[in-house]
Formats: sequence, C-alpha cells, structure tokens
Amino acid sequence: MPTAKEREQFVRALLGWYEKHGSDLPWRNLSNPYLVLVSECMLQQTQVDRVIPKYHAFAEQFPDVASLARASTGDVLRAWSGLGYNSRALRLQKFAREVVENHGGIIPSDIATLLTLPGIGKYTAGAIRTFGYGLPAAFIDVNIARILHRVFFGAEGTYPALSTQETEELAAYLAPMTSEAYPYHQALMDVGRKFCTARKTTCADCPLKTQCRARMRFEAEPLYLAEHRKKNRRTKEPFALSQRFLRGRIIHLLREHHEGLDFAELHALLSAIPVPNLERLPKALLDLEKEELLHLRENRYML
Ligand code: ADE
Repeated sequence: MPTAKEREQFVRALLGWYEKHGSDLPWRNLSNPYLVLVSECMLQQTQVDRVIPKYHAFAEQFPDVASLARASTGDVLRAWSGLGYNSRALRLQKFAREVVENHGGIIPSDIATLLTLPGIGKYTAGAIRTFGYGLPAAFIDVNIARILHRVFFGAEGTYPALSTQETEELAAYLAPMTSEAYPYHQALMDVGRKFCTARKTTCADCPLKTQCRARMRFEAEPLYLAEHRKKNRRTKEPFALSQRFLRGRIIHLLREHHEGLDFAELHALLSAIPVPNLERLPKALLDLEKEELLHLRENRYML
C-alpha cells in the first residue's frame, strides 16, 4: 500500500488538476442519478465524443426513470442504435422498471441496494452513488485500475498485475470518503482518457507525472506499450466475433422494419449483406428471443 503521504499527494494532484482542467461534459454536475446512469451505460462501450449526441437525444426522449420504464422496448433499442451492445439498453430499461415497481421510482443511493438491481455491478453502483448523489464511494473500472497500477506499481509487464480484489483495496484506501469523491473519480476518468490510455500515454501533461512509477519506462521506451500489447494480445475468437456481427445485423434490420420480418425475409436480407455463418440464424434468433432483445409474433420477428 502507498504511504499516507503518497496517498495525499495523489489525491491533491488529481483534485488540483480537475478544478482547472476537468472536462465539461453534459452528465457532470447534474445531481441526477438517472441521467448519470444513462451516461455511464453509454460510456462503457463508446468514446465520449460519440456518446455526447446520443446522450442528449436519449435524455430528451426518456428524461426520467418513469418515461424509460413505460417506453416500448423497440423505442429504447432504436434510441440506442449506433451505440452497439443492445443488451445494455435492455438492462437499463429493466433497471428503470424495477426502480418504478419496487423502489417508488427513486434510484437507491446505497451500494448494497444498488447491487440488487438489474445490470448494476460494483463500478456502476459506485458511479450512481458518487456521480449521481454526490456521496462518497470508491470504485474502479478498467481505466481507473490501469492508472492505479501504473502510478503505484509501474508499467504493465514490469510488475505482477494486481488482482481485482487487490486493486479494489488500493482504490478504497486512496479514494477520499468526503464530497471530494466526486471530483476525485471524475479526474481519474479524464486522466484515463486523456493521458493514460491502454495504448498510449502522454506523461508530460499528466497531473500524476511526478509520482508515477511507469512514467520513466514509457518516456524512455516510446514503443514499450505497443510491444507489450503485441506480446500479450489475445485475439478474439473469430466465432464469437461473427456471432456478434450476426446478432447486430439482425437487430439493425428489425429496427428498420417496424412491422417485423419473417424468417425467410430475414434470411434473404442477411444473405444480401452478406453475413458469415448464416446457418446459425435459427440459434441466434432463439438466443435473442430468450434475452428479450426481440419478440416473435405470428411468425414475425420484431423489436
Ligand atoms: N467514462 C465513464 N464514466 C465517465 C465519466 N463520468 N466521465 C468521462 N468518461 C467516463
């Protein structure tokens, strides 16, 4: 664990930097846990620049938990189009419905209750509590974990990686349990995006540069990260990739055909794209139906 002094230096550097240079993003300083959650779901999969217009449109169409809860699934999926990972949109709506049905329409602020709700893991629970309610919590996503590891242990590959539990303990030790939890975590988000991505670092501009144990390596060996990543690259299974592609195309077609499509029509449209592994269409449709991403009515598939 870092010393108390190191902890203090880390927190002060982040807070000082954020006050002057923190990004002005539409979901910041909102005091609206619902919109914070919408933004977090979108940001899990998509970069900030691409999220901003989608976020505004979604917030206008579904301004609160109640409007999202009563919307049709098709409308929610259409509003999500372009963001990918449709199941996240569905989980968001399930969350809204559960909050309306069992929590009087009020999103909880305590972590234990949040964790019982659909689609909410430790990170999102912390983000709702801190970014939505301004209450203290400590939470990590891959970006925060990467920063903590680099600053306190060094560049990846030069030190055994911390386990998730060790990283959570480190995060809990470092995070201020005051109203400063808000700017502290938002600052980490900015640092992770601007100076300390998985692929590239710009240490000279980073507020954590004087403290960071990875900086020397990154500055001395500009190709270090690229080479480390190449060595450790795990290629995604081609099968999983093509399944994802097929599922994405099906949802895309159903978004465009509000009246639905029968199996033969879907098959014909998909083979015209074309998509690989089209023989897996029946299984893909069955899975999507089970996950409630689509519905089957009178032999027609629809959202
Ligand atoms: N990525 C995830 N959450 C974020 C936030 N609140 N601000 C910027 N990027 C983020």
